[in-house]
Amino acid sequence: MYVPSHVVTNHDLTQYMDTSDEWIRERTGIIERRYAHRTDETTTTMGLEAARIAIERAGTTPQDIDFVIFATLSPDYYFPGCGVLLQRAMKMKEVGALDVRNQCSGFVYAISVADQFIRSGMYKNILVVGAEKHSFGLDFSTRGRNVSVIFGDGAGAVVMQPSSDDKHKVLSTHLHSDGESAEILAMYNPGTHANYWLDEKLADFDTAELGEMFFSHTMIDNAQVFPNMDGQAVFKKAVVKFPEVIMEALDSNNYKPADLKLLIPHQANLRISQFVQQKLRLRDDQVFNNIQHYGNTTAASIPIALCEAWEQGRINEGDLVCLAAFGSGFTWASALLKW
Ligand code: ACO
Repeated sequence: MYVPSHVVTNHDLTQYMDTSDEWIRERTGIIERRYAHRTDETTTTMGLEAARIAIERAGTTPQDIDFVIFATLSPDYYFPGCGVLLQRAMKMKEVGALDVRNQCSGFVYAISVADQFIRSGMYKNILVVGAEKHSFGLDFSTRGRNVSVIFGDGAGAVVMQPSSDDKHKVLSTHLHSDGESAEILAMYNPGTHANYWLDEKLADFDTAELGEMFFSHTMIDNAQVFPNMDGQAVFKKAVVKFPEVIMEALDSNNYKPADLKLLIPHQANLRISQFVQQKLRLRDDQVFNNIQHYGNTTAASIPIALCEAWEQGRINEGDLVCLAAFGSGFTWASALLKW
């Protein structure tokens, strides 16, 4: 994992917007988050720092990596994706590089893709990265406070390799989506939507000149370049889909919640994790939370949590570990691992 050194407390945010430490802690559990250096750090460079550590711990080298999967919603460029920037920065061979755009469930989707490539025998050393530089794309005025206080920057990475030992493997992955709710948590612009899917009319695309549609002054003037979120709608769906997809992973492998050594949920909101814990009747030591210190780092949140859990000795060889995520799309996913 890699997180920037700059710590931003809830109190720090009060200089930009009408909010309070009490409100943020009570509703989300977040105490502080990290923000990347404005110019010296990007989503890819943070991913690179995490990837270096993952590759070293896996006992391999960048030249041995035969495929890269990079999950993020805050890429360095609109295109190309961060995968190729990482391939270049790490001086890897001309291996395939895939970007995954599944927001909060991006890392679990990426793990699933890597697992299939490994099972098929196509690749043997896949680098999977989740990274976000949210601090560049949030509305720090009071208008955007319901979203801005939640998110933080950081990165995490793993190297996935084939295992001949049944005690150490990805048992199964489970992926879902429900596009009915795509606009409930979304950033519309820049994009090619031209209001097609939206009830609310954003920029006037009928009269706009060619060249002023993808990104226009109107979008900037009307603050339509920031994420939108109906927090309560996300919350309500998340507390249903999290337990469902975790149970799907356990049921598929004939396990019960009590068998879990550790559940690592995407760090969306501490209240969501607590609700899921209660619903599945898990003990405190069976659920890992670190949102208090990093906020919601979207595609990076699970690998950051996985890294901290492992470093703290909360995951040992052969342990049953479940990764689970829910987020924008909506998409949700789980992965059941024998560590
Ligand atoms: N500080 C102070 N007040 C605030 C803030 C803030 N930062 N944000 C909103 N409020 C106010 C609202 O304006 C509202 O005021 P009003 O009652 O006068 O209208 C009041 O607080 C309640 O607002 P709600 O949005 O109803 O607050 P809620 O209790 O739902 O909490 C929250 C909001 C924390 C966003 C919650 O809904 C949540 O966590 N939802 C889930 C979000 C999530 O998990 N996203 C993850 C996916 S992210 C991804 O995939 C990219």
